[in-house]
Amino acid sequence: VAAAAQPIGTPAPHPAVCVYIAASLDGFIAPADGKLDWLDDYPAESFGYGEFVAGIGTIVMGRKTYDQIAERGGWPYPTKRTYVLTSRPLRGAPTGVKAVSNLPQLVQRLDPRVGGDLWVMGGGRTIGSFLQHGAIDRLDLFVIPVMLGRGSRLFEDSRRRGRLTLLGVQSWPNGVVRLSYRIG
Ligand SMILES: NC(=O)c1ccc[n+]([C@@H]2O[C@H](COP(=O)([O-])OP(=O)(O)OC[C@H]3O[C@@H](n4cnc5c(N)ncnc54)[C@H](OP(=O)(O)O)[C@@H]3O)[C@@H](O)[C@H]2O)c1
Repeated sequence: VAAAAQPIGTPAPHPAVCVYIAASLDGFIAPADGKLDWLDDYPAESFGYGEFVAGIGTIVMGRKTYDQIAERGGWPYPTKRTYVLTSRPLRGAPTGVKAVSNLPQLVQRLDPRVGGDLWVMGGGRTIGSFLQHGAIDRLDLFVIPVMLGRGSRLFEDSRRRGRLTLLGVQSWPNGVVRLSYRIG
């Protein structure tokens, strides 16, 4: 799919802690049944994912997201250092994948200068935890032109308020819109 006008402008400072995520227009990152097929017509590769992921050194994801990816088999991020937020042990995790239970400690110890940017992949609970700690620099939100009605929310209730700086807007003929913000 060809990108339309209005390319992403000022880049975020690098290295950065990034959220890079797709959400339905009504604010869900997964439908109630957890299935991923709602994104079949909108493959991430069409929207600059390859370039983004090449710049990532470290991934952080929540346990629910990890379990879903691991279930599919064939770990897709063998070259990335990966932390899974969870209060439960991770058995048989792929090489390079580590369980962490203490988010403030993780945030303190993570050094995004080591090997590229840091991607807080999701889901909503994990992103919410990072936002709560003021630990996100950049948010790239891909608004998918579908309504899911129910499901996992991108943003749960949060005690954190604040303004964001728009870095750029990009749109595609199939209705996907990328909103890029700097946080803080
Ligand atoms: N649209 C997209 O691009 C996208 C991207 C990523 C994920 N998703 C979807 O998001 C859904 C999952 O989202 P979710 O919000 O329900 O779950 P999630 O964030 O993936 O995982 C939640 C779990 O992570 C652990 N966790 C989260 N915050 C923590 C903290 N501060 N400290 C310790 N542990 C913490 C807990 O695990 P324990 O229960 O083990 O303590 C919690 O139950 C999935 O359906 C996935 O497909 C969509």
